[in-house]
Amino acid sequence: MKVDVLLGLQWGDEGKGKIVDYLAPRYHVVARFQGGPNAGHTLEFDGIKHVLHQIPSGIFRNNIVNIIGNGVVLDPITFQQEVKALEKLQVNPRENLFVSTRAQLILPTHRALDTAYEKAKGKDKIGSTLKGIGPAYQDKVSRQGLRVGDIKLADFAARYAKQRDRHLQILRHLKYKYDFEKEEKTFLKAIEFLKSFTLSDTEHLVNEKLQEHNTVLAEGAQGAMLDVDFGSYPFVTSSNTITAGACTGLGVPPSAIGEVYGIFKSYCTRVGSGPFPTELHDETGEQLRNYGHEFGATTGRPRRTGWLDLPALKYAAMINGVTQLFMMKADVLGAFKEIKICTGYRLPDGSVVGKLSYNLMFDEVEPVYKTFEGWGELAHIPDSLEELPFQLKRYIRYIEEQVGVPITLVSLGPDRQQTVM
Ligand code: GDP
Ligand code: IMO
Ligand code: MG
Repeated sequence: MKVDVLLGLQWGDEGKGKIVDYLAPRYHVVARFQGGPNAGHTLEFDGIKHVLHQIPSGIFRNNIVNIIGNGVVLDPITFQQEVKALEKLQVNPRENLFVSTRAQLILPTHRALDTAYEKAKGKDKIGSTLKGIGPAYQDKVSRQGLRVGDIKLADFAARYAKQRDRHLQILRHLKYKYDFEKEEKTFLKAIEFLKSFTLSDTEHLVNEKLQEHNTVLAEGAQGAMLDVDFGSYPFVTSSNTITAGACTGLGVPPSAIGEVYGIFKSYCTRVGSGPFPTELHDETGEQLRNYGHEFGATTGRPRRTGWLDLPALKYAAMINGVTQLFMMKADVLGAFKEIKICTGYRLPDGSVVGKLSYNLMFDEVEPVYKTFEGWGELAHIPDSLEELPFQLKRYIRYIEEQVGVPITLVSLGPDRQQTVM
């Protein structure tokens, strides 16, 4: 069998958590392959609203193996909090959650470094979630990081102390005052807690599952426009959020990739700093934020809002090899009489381009829009895509034609059931 990949095509928060939870019963395995607690994936069903940060969104479904893969950076403190919150909902992740021995650990000093680096950047800050993601991946790449498997080594305490002291030295250099002792106690307790889980070489587990004809869904975090290579660098996260990241983040070959589900909002949002060509600073942008409840699931920050950016969507579909598009939050646009899609960017010299490029993210560009008639509020959730209002079908067809990939799922509300496939 193959690994199907579900990933965000915009700046994150497309609704990945909702759809992974919706699709999970079709899969034997759900696996996270990159990112860490910077992610906030919201699931809603049976009157429950729950936000997951590090644990895969298949955790609420029975008989599914959930994997935190080697490409993830794991914060043991947040992990413990997440498990406790799940236990309150009668979910016991010990039964079906496997954590890769090769996943990197986020230390409390990584979080402090994240804050110190952002402070030092001043007005040029990334707008990081400050969860320690950048510094943890930095240590991974510079070959100094600690991994989940290390926590069972006899000399883990010494290895940890070495990294902590190195971090404290940098923090002193940055003149960042930091009292690590209290957090360290919590961290060391969380490490003991983590030891009670199944820590294994999950690359073997995933490949064995595939050989045994099991289906695997890889759950992306963040989105293509936050990818460290292809996103709006430097305003990005520190991992490869794209399909290729699923290979390196789980230990599966490219030939094992099956469907690639590219998920996007019917408009755009972004939280944190960086270019956002279609951003609306007016009343319409405010309405999008209010109707769509666009406030960060991890930090609570208001999300920046704007119309759908087609050149960016095409680019994301291209680098990910998207085979099916999933369109989210179509209900939110139902509140507008007129809806716009950005089809190209007008450059300062007056020319119009339809392709995202290296330069584009620095230039002042003016979006060129095509206007669509709104579809109003839907009285009920239809059984099939065919039954959607004709104005919405027209909007869908235009995107499909432009991107060259079919839209096979439309989401019309935050609940599991408000989904048409
Ligand atoms: P993720 O990070 O991609 O999992 O997305 P988030 O959970 O951060 O943000 C998506 C938000 O939109 C959450 O509050 C969801 O409950 C909500 N949501 C998801 N799909 C829909 C939808 O179709 N309509 C509406 N109105 N809300 C949705
Ligand atoms: P999910 O998985 C939206 C953004 C941050 C910041 C930049 C770098 O819920 O879609 P980092 O903490 O990685 O150093 O932040 O990336 N960011 C996200 N934005 N959704 C996310 O995850 C994000 N994870 C990081 O706001 O601009
Ligand atoms: Mg989110």
